[in-house]
Amino acid sequence: MTRHFLRDDDITPAEQTEILNLALDLKRDRWSQKPLEGPQTVAVIFDKSSTRTRVSFAVGIADLGGAPLIISTANSQLGGKETPADTARVLERMVSAIVWRTYGQAGLEEMAEKTTVPVINALSDDFHPCQLLADLLTIREHKGDLAGLRLTFIGDGACNMAQSYLLAGATAGMHVTIASPEGYAPTDTVVDDARARAAQTGGSISILTDPVDAATGADVLVTDTWVSMGKEEEKSARLASLSSYRVDQRLMSQAKPDAVFMHCLPADRGFEVSADVIDGPQSIIWDEAENRLHAQKALMVWLLARA
Ligand code: CP
Ligand code: NVA
Repeated sequence: MTRHFLRDDDITPAEQTEILNLALDLKRDRWSQKPLEGPQTVAVIFDKSSTRTRVSFAVGIADLGGAPLIISTANSQLGGKETPADTARVLERMVSAIVWRTYGQAGLEEMAEKTTVPVINALSDDFHPCQLLADLLTIREHKGDLAGLRLTFIGDGACNMAQSYLLAGATAGMHVTIASPEGYAPTDTVVDDARARAAQTGGSISILTDPVDAATGADVLVTDTWVSMGKEEEKSARLASLSSYRVDQRLMSQAKPDAVFMHCLPADRGFEVSADVIDGPQSIIWDEAENRLHAQKALMVWLLARA
């Protein structure tokens, strides 16, 4: 049965550890695995803009011996004339895996249901699970064992990153706290799923509104843009609602003295994070960005071995 990676809890806690261990191996020895030798092609489809995801998948697929085929939906039939199911049936005749950045989670589910090759979510409105593999890898490198660490996300708690932190952090046995204003809390079903996962791993989930309470004692403080892709029309309302949720030095000082700051990027300095925090000594954003490459290579090796 083909495995897909559409959301962070599509893998078990043990599988998450296995993929992160593999990512560390691949980071140490970058060209050691060639499952795509041939070269086999992987389709990487974008409905939304990207720098890191596009580059890290293209480079990672090449590192694994394969050929990346980058497709923009703006000049393909997908999204206009053709369904995800039909697109997948065509692609699977020619490619070994499909990576897709899109809007709704339903399209990814439809594609995965209808195809025999692994489908990877490269960001949807609901989740960004590839980013979370990179983030967990980065936290492990800086802080050691993930289980028991306190991770706090401040800002738009309904965005893909916050929801992925809930599921992936719970899977890793972390204590995940989200602080967001009213109207920007994560979806109830995602919180329930994260709590169910945390109950298996010894982690916990807290959903708060006070950013100072949430930041207190954190090992990892994290935020994301207040205006995710697709939400541009809500920009002025969002900036007003979220203005007291900026991660600045005052908030950073509530966390543990050795806490790290993370952001998936792209960042809006002066909005969700102050420049002195994101460019300061506690920020580990460049390691986080690099780890997209190693984490996604590990994910592809792992999925291809099960395809
Ligand atoms: N973090 C991230 O996914 O970046 P891109 O939008 O540049 O791919
Ligand atoms: N939440 C952001 C993440 C960008 C990588 C967005 O969806 O735009």
